[in-house]
Amino acid sequence: MSTERDRLLPTTNGEASPSREARVRAVLHGVLTVLFAVGLGVLLILSRIRDWRWGGELPRDPLEAALKILEASPVIDGHIDLPDLVREFYANNVSAVDLASKMPQHVDIPRLREGRVGGFFWSVYAGCPQHEGYDAGADFLTATWRVRDTLEQIDVAKALIASYPDTFQFALTSQDISNAIARGKIASLMGVEGAHQLGNSLSVLRQYYDLGVRYVTLAHMCHNAFADSCGFLEWLEPLHGGLSELGYTLVSEMNRIGMLVDLSHTADTTAKQALAHTKAPVIWSHSSARAVWNVPRNVPDDVLELIGMGENKTEGVVMVNFAPEFVAAEGNATVEGVADHVEHIAKVAGKKHVGLGSDFDGIGGVPRGLEDVSKYPHLFAELYKRGWSQSDLAGLSGGNLLRVMEGAERVAQQLQDAGVPPAFDIYKKRRDVGQGRIPGKGRWLVEEL
Ligand SMILES: *[C@@H]1O[C@H](CO)[C@@H](O)[C@H](O)[C@H]1NC(C)=O
Ligand SMILES: *[C@@H]1O[C@H](CO)[C@@H](O)[C@H](O)[C@H]1NC(C)=O
Ligand SMILES: *[C@@H]1O[C@H](CO)[C@@H](O)[C@H](O)[C@H]1NC(C)=O
Ligand SMILES: [Zn+2]
Repeated sequence: MSTERDRLLPTTNGEASPSREARVRAVLHGVLTVLFAVGLGVLLILSRIRDWRWGGELPRDPLEAALKILEASPVIDGHIDLPDLVREFYANNVSAVDLASKMPQHVDIPRLREGRVGGFFWSVYAGCPQHEGYDAGADFLTATWRVRDTLEQIDVAKALIASYPDTFQFALTSQDISNAIARGKIASLMGVEGAHQLGNSLSVLRQYYDLGVRYVTLAHMCHNAFADSCGFLEWLEPLHGGLSELGYTLVSEMNRIGMLVDLSHTADTTAKQALAHTKAPVIWSHSSARAVWNVPRNVPDDVLELIGMGENKTEGVVMVNFAPEFVAAEGNATVEGVADHVEHIAKVAGKKHVGLGSDFDGIGGVPRGLEDVSKYPHLFAELYKRGWSQSDLAGLSGGNLLRVMEGAERVAQQLQDAGVPPAFDIYKKRRDVGQGRIPGKGRWLVEEL
């Protein structure tokens, strides 16, 4: 090697000239080097383009590209109301439900498959007492059967999931979701849609977790003992001004056990306080952007700005709701409009902090172009047309939710490893516990609740 190079080098007096053979070799060497560099550059550029649009593996046609992307990264929807549909339409008779054929609203197995769904949270919803003819009382103390009704919806979800073992796989962790998807199954998780379903009790929270529930929305369309709601299309007068004292404890206990804190439906005050207080990443299981369409149910920019991974930000994912009344003016909700919400949340909070929570089977109307679960690919095609990359779309479809869920699982493990004890706080207005008295000694253990 060194001798050859020496031969090519001119001598100090410049007399010696390299042989013809050596010159040819030098030229060849140079040409090869240039070719190598050009090839490397082309490869680099191609690898970028492949993840962007026309080149490489992704088809030119946006819908075909979307289908291809979703094949590898299927949709994990944060909120589907199938169990409530079974309650309302079938009186919870699971035997009467045939998910293999066309169901009355937006969800059945053929359409889930067509829509490239890899998982979803089955909402085990029981409505606010006052919206369903019960009065919980000003202090929420009157039993309203909401805990029973939640248990019934858990029962419905589990029975349906078990009825279709070739399609659904019950999932409890982010790893379970990935495993189900790898096996071609639809990962099935459960979420409780409102802390009014807890019967004011942290024990109920823990037992829901043990039954497999993996998120609790802090409020539905009513205030409860833990948190203020945002209302629906009209603002609600505040009650606690955000979280109650017990509400803060609820968030901490959710962090400890690994129950995701869901901030959909919450008042802005509740959301801000929960974001500041939580140790774990949070979700909005089904919420859109208020700057795009101004209704209380949508998330305002000053909350979106608090989400992220940097300093003073809380890790989270806002999963966009398709309900037409949250998307645009009456008659104007479209798949493009839903894409506007996705893009706005991505603009303010970042593309790593947006997901999908359709609310299918829980909404009356649907946007044009997003009529049921078979239509998710059209939303991805629209965003692909707008320049979203394959990896951004994979985050939107489910990757971002998985990351947030993993984060919450890690925090729960850390808190449990650190020996943080369960919270045994009792709702202060209850008088049915701690009333035992030892004769002559007054109340037993609990002096004052
Ligand atoms: C539930 O549905 C099945 C199938 O339609 C029917 O045979 C059965 O009688 C129903 N049960 C009740 C309690 O209504
Ligand atoms: C983050 O918040 C803390 C206190 O909440 C504050 O002291 C600090 O200045 C903030 N940092 C930035 C970059 O805003
Ligand atoms: C509905 O959409 C049409 C067409 O884009 C627009 O002209 C109209 O202003 C929209 N309606 C409202 C209430 O925003
Ligand atoms: Zn809802």
